[in-house]
Amino acid sequence: MNDIFPVGRPVGADDLVSREGFINQCVLRLHDGQCVMVASPRRTGKSSVAGEVLRRLTAYGHPTATVDLFYVTQLEELAAKLLAAVIETRTGPFRRAVHSLAGLREALSRVQWGAKIGDLELAATLDRRQADPLDLLETAIDTAEVIGEKSGQRLILLLDEFQEIDRLGGSLLAKRLRALFQRQSHTAFLFLGSQSSMMHTIFADRRQAFYRLATLLPLPAVSDDEWTHYLDARFQSLNLEITPTALGLLIEKSGGHPYGMMSLAYNCYLLAKTQHVGIVDAERFARAYDLTMESLTPVYDALWSEIHTIRHGDAVLKSIIDGTPPYQLPLNKATISRALKGLMDASVITKGPGRGHYRLVEPLFGDWVSRQR
Ligand SMILES: Nc1ncnc2c1ncn2[C@@H]1O[C@H](COP(=O)(O)OP(=O)(O)OP(=O)(O)O)[C@@H](O)[C@H]1O
Ligand SMILES: [Mg+2]
Repeated sequence: MNDIFPVGRPVGADDLVSREGFINQCVLRLHDGQCVMVASPRRTGKSSVAGEVLRRLTAYGHPTATVDLFYVTQLEELAAKLLAAVIETRTGPFRRAVHSLAGLREALSRVQWGAKIGDLELAATLDRRQADPLDLLETAIDTAEVIGEKSGQRLILLLDEFQEIDRLGGSLLAKRLRALFQRQSHTAFLFLGSQSSMMHTIFADRRQAFYRLATLLPLPAVSDDEWTHYLDARFQSLNLEITPTALGLLIEKSGGHPYGMMSLAYNCYLLAKTQHVGIVDAERFARAYDLTMESLTPVYDALWSEIHTIRHGDAVLKSIIDGTPPYQLPLNKATISRALKGLMDASVITKGPGRGHYRLVEPLFGDWVSRQR
């Protein structure tokens, strides 16, 4: 993993471009006890922003805990991970990952945590051979509340890839969680989700369990000026010059998508370093662009396979890439609508300005598809 133009994981404070106002707003709302939900397409910077929000809240004295639902396979694992993350706010990080109640018990038995968690009344749960996952989940949420109350600062719980609750337990789990979350007054939740439309249904549809529980905040885009400022300074710090033309191409080709931008910038850096030159010009940028396309092929291959599971998804996507209105395809309207919805759910496209206008979330992906043709 590289620290220079980091890609593929949340970025640290030094590389976090822009979004200062947004971060401040999240910090304040959570500090005041509001729950916040941030939904935006893949790889646009949700986890990076949330990481900074949590760092600031920790600095203000809030206990903070994170659970990423993406790799959780079942409900018991979710409950055990949640309880572990909450307990870790007292004990510091465990040395091993927790996947079950037995695993949590094992992790806790290795060290004498008594003095740090003795007051949490966890013995009844931890001593049980087996526990109903929903009861364990309730214990985790209740424990968060107790820790928040005792510390005098709300416990902030970040639930990343929250749309996965649908896979883990459907609407029954959503209802149960909502009931649990609602009665908390010393815990505030920050939810992140990748599939925008699904997240909007979980939180905004009045028939759904999470209606009005959290404030929905859209992740703002990073402006071209902010990217220019960051990239100029960062290349300079690496003793590299990037010409205005190359910088313009970088911003234009990535379309401002954070992951694409950072991948391109990293490959520009890599190429200049391997060629022992101190400047990135338009020609070198073109070569770095090819390198980026090659390095992103495994990611885009997987995305392309996903698109093939959407009926006529490929044809509709290609029409958007080519700039032709999808409804001009020789398919019936309902089929095209369904394909568009599928592509939006998969975070491949979003609605553009104006009716019937769609654009790619990642312009680089559009280019990659064109190249495959
Ligand atoms: N504010 C930012 N400044 C600079 N680069 C960023 C920023 N946000 C995101 N990135 C780039 O995008 C990549 C993905 O960021 P991050 O993991 O935060 O996004 P995400 O929306 O949580 O992604 P996923 O949908 O995969 O969970 C980072 O590794 C980094 O290269
Ligand atoms: Mg993320």
